[in-house]
Amino acid sequence: MATISSLPIFFGLLSLLFLLFAPSTAVITTTGIRLGIVLKPSTHVPVFREAPAFRNGDSCGKQKIHVTMTLDANYLRGTMAAVLSILQHSTCPENVEFHFLWAHFEPDVYESINSTFPYLNFKVYKFDSNRVRGKISKSIRQALDQPLNYARIYLGDILPADVKRVIYLDSDLVVVDDIAKLWEVDLEGKVLAAPEYCHANFTNYFTDLFWSDRKLAKTFDRRKPCYFNTGVMVVDVDKWRQGRYSQKVEEWMAVQKQKRIYHLGSLPPFLLVLAGNIKAVNHRWNQHGLGGDNIEGKCRNLHPGPISLLHWSGKGKPWLRLDSRKPCSVDYLWAPYDLYHPSIKYSLEELTDGS
Ligand SMILES: *[C@@H]1O[C@H](CO)[C@@H](O)[C@H](O)[C@H]1NC(C)=O
Ligand SMILES: *[C@@H]1O[C@H](CO)[C@@H](O)[C@H](O)[C@H]1NC(C)=O
Repeated sequence: MATISSLPIFFGLLSLLFLLFAPSTAVITTTGIRLGIVLKPSTHVPVFREAPAFRNGDSCGKQKIHVTMTLDANYLRGTMAAVLSILQHSTCPENVEFHFLWAHFEPDVYESINSTFPYLNFKVYKFDSNRVRGKISKSIRQALDQPLNYARIYLGDILPADVKRVIYLDSDLVVVDDIAKLWEVDLEGKVLAAPEYCHANFTNYFTDLFWSDRKLAKTFDRRKPCYFNTGVMVVDVDKWRQGRYSQKVEEWMAVQKQKRIYHLGSLPPFLLVLAGNIKAVNHRWNQHGLGGDNIEGKCRNLHPGPISLLHWSGKGKPWLRLDSRKPCSVDYLWAPYDLYHPSIKYSLEELTDGS
C-alpha cells in the first residue's frame, strides 16, 4: 500500500508532470514502488486560502457601497485579490456589497468565493452574452473581445432597481485606500465619474477613417474629449437607465461593425458617448497600464503621485508574471493580496499498488 505520508512528495512530482503535459487524467507508474494511480483534476478552479473576517468600525452606519465586477474562472485569482484589497482598506468593510457578473453559472467558482470569503456580502448575476452577439468586432488583443468585457455596458439592466450607484472595477487591480472615498464622489449631475487624462493624445484612440469622416468626427464637436479608462468607473445607474446609455454605446459598436473606427475593445465606444462629459476624479484612483502595452506587456513603472488603486491593464497580469518568475517590479505590489494557494487539488480516484 502507498502510505498517506508518501503522498505529498508524490503530489509534488505529479504537479510537475501536470504542468508539463496537462492531461485531464493521467496514469502514472513509478517503478520503485510500482504504484498505479489515477488522478483527475476535480476542478479547473484554483484553490485559495480563506480570508479573515473584516468587521466594521464603530463609526459605521448602514450605508451600502455597491461594487460590481465580472467573474471569470480565468481571472478568479485577480478577482480574489481585488476583493481582499477592498475589504482590507475599508473602514466599513461589511457595508460593501459585491455584485458579480458572469457569463455562465459555475458552481465551482461560486463555491470558491463563498469559501474564500465566508463573510462576504455578494450576489451573482448572469450576463447573457447574446446581448452582444454579432456586435463585437475584433480588437488588437483577443482577451479584449470576450463578451463579458462588454457586460459593463449593461449594468443598468443587470443590477436590481435599488442599486442607484455602483462602482465598476476590472479584475486586474487592487485598491489600497478606503473605497468609501471613491464611492462618495459628487457626480455633479454626470452619469459617470472616472479619472480623466487630458494629456493623452486622444486622436490615437480612433482610426484615420474615423477622423476623416466629417459626420463621425463631429460627434466630438462642442466637447473637450479626454481619455478615461473604463476599468474603474462610478456610475449613476439610474441616469444610465434613463438616458438609455446602453443603446448609445451599442450604436457606436454597430458603426464599428460597418467600418473600422477604432482598435481597442469596449473602451472606445464609451469614449465616443461620454468623453468630455464625465466627472473627473483624482488620478490616484486609477494608476493604470501596469500590465504594460497591449502587444508585448513590457514592464512599466509607477507614475508619480499618491495612489489609491493599482491597475494592471495591458497585456501582462501580475499573477502570470509572478508565476513565470519574471515579474515586473510593480507586480510585487500585487503579491500581498494574492490568496492563491499553490497546492494541487486533484481527487484521488483510485489508489492501488498492484497487489
Ligand atoms: C457558503 O459557505 C458557508 C460556510 O462558510 C456554508 O454554510 C454555505 O452553505 C455556503 N453556501 C453555499 C451556497 O455554498
Ligand atoms: C496626436 O497624434 C496625431 C496622430 O498620431 C498627430 O498627428 C498629432 O500631432 C498628435 N497631437 C499632439 C498634440 O501631439
